[in-house]
Amino acid sequence: MGNENSTPVDEATPPSTLHGRNIEAVAQYIKERDVKNIVVMTGAGLSTSAGIPDFRSPDTGLYANLARLNLPYAEAVFDIGYFRKNPLPFYTLAHELYPGKYRPTVGHSFISLLNKKGRLLKLFTQNIDCLEQEAGVPGDKIVYAHGSFATQRCIECQTEYPDDRMKEVIQRKEVPHCIRKSCNGLVKPDIVFFGEALPEAFHRNRSLPAKADLAIIMGTSLTVQPFASLPSFVREETPRVLINYERVGGLGSRADDVLLLQDCDEGVRKFADALGWREELEQEWARTNPDKGQKKEEDTPKKTRQEKLDDEVEKLTKDIDTSLKLSGETSDRIKADLEKVTASTSPSKAATSPSPKPSDILTTPQTTTTSTTASSLNHVFPHLNEDKLEKPSL
Ligand code: OAD
Repeated sequence: MGNENSTPVDEATPPSTLHGRNIEAVAQYIKERDVKNIVVMTGAGLSTSAGIPDFRSPDTGLYANLARLNLPYAEAVFDIGYFRKNPLPFYTLAHELYPGKYRPTVGHSFISLLNKKGRLLKLFTQNIDCLEQEAGVPGDKIVYAHGSFATQRCIECQTEYPDDRMKEVIQRKEVPHCIRKSCNGLVKPDIVFFGEALPEAFHRNRSLPAKADLAIIMGTSLTVQPFASLPSFVREETPRVLINYERVGGLGSRADDVLLLQDCDEGVRKFADALGWREELEQEWARTNPDKGQKKEEDTPKKTRQEKLDDEVEKLTKDIDTSLKLSGETSDRIKADLEKVTASTSPSKAATSPSPKPSDILTTPQTTTTSTTASSLNHVFPHLNEDKLEKPSL
């Protein structure tokens, strides 16, 4: 694999594996070669049509909206250092995003269909909404790269906290503490926060993209490391399909990259049309609890998808604002403390001991320098040479 630059290869440049640089050629490739090892990589954009805001969209993204609140920086809500001092904003968000409220999207059902057709090698997701599993993708086919709400533990003594109690506490918008009275540490779902290491499953499966016969990347800005580097480990001659509103991560720079710069649901429908799977896809999606979220809408005028997303992010922002006010004077103190920390370090460095190796931890673009992206990620992807790592286009 050579060095990827972020310039898209001219549309006219002949692909080396596909018959053309379009989705029909990818469908033909899947059928002719009977492709079975497809790796899918997803992010928050896959769930926006379910009504869950993503993080970095300029208007409807969570971070743009949280930026106007009294947080030291928008990502603080997912920062382990901040959580230790003020867990309420995270738990306010958790209350709203806790799995079970939303219906999977057509994009999720497309992944489930790939699996049912015996063609899914692995799904790497950054999402914590569990909609992949609700759509029918089996747990053993999913790598929750940024963890999930499935389990939780005390951040001090690591004692696990019971699932049923967690559900109740989150529903009541409370903050759970360790079941060991002598400890009483804060409990946190096993979601990876900035400054924490990625789960073992990510490391165990990180070599799979290099074994894939096709990669599909959907709904992610590819800005958070080390996940953002996964597409670059797909072999040079292996086709990669990006379905996203915008071009990200240098996708489009190889001769066999195919870009569908559009809505994920529309993109997978187009893909399914090309494969002759459209009817099966719609059936697969119809199985995903079509009533979920519909009831409360019956009494109110129908809203567009965009309006629903605006409402959701507005509600989340307001709730977190309230939780910040509730946490009262402490928030100003915390802000001052954290500003001191962030002035000299990154959000991830606000983490606590035991410190994972720098390349192992979740980092944002502003904390990711070329050197951490490339050389130090060798530790995360040791099966690859350093020169195979590329910096994602930000
Ligand atoms: P981002 O919000 O960074 O990126 C979402 C991407 O999806 C953007 O490029 C959007 O343009 C695109 N998008 C949104 N809706 C779409 C749609 N319906 N169809 C097509 N494209 C769409 O979300 P992630 O890349 O998932 O970490 O963010 C990565 C991580 O940053 C998250 O896992 C989270 C966050 O901090 C943690 O919380 C630990």
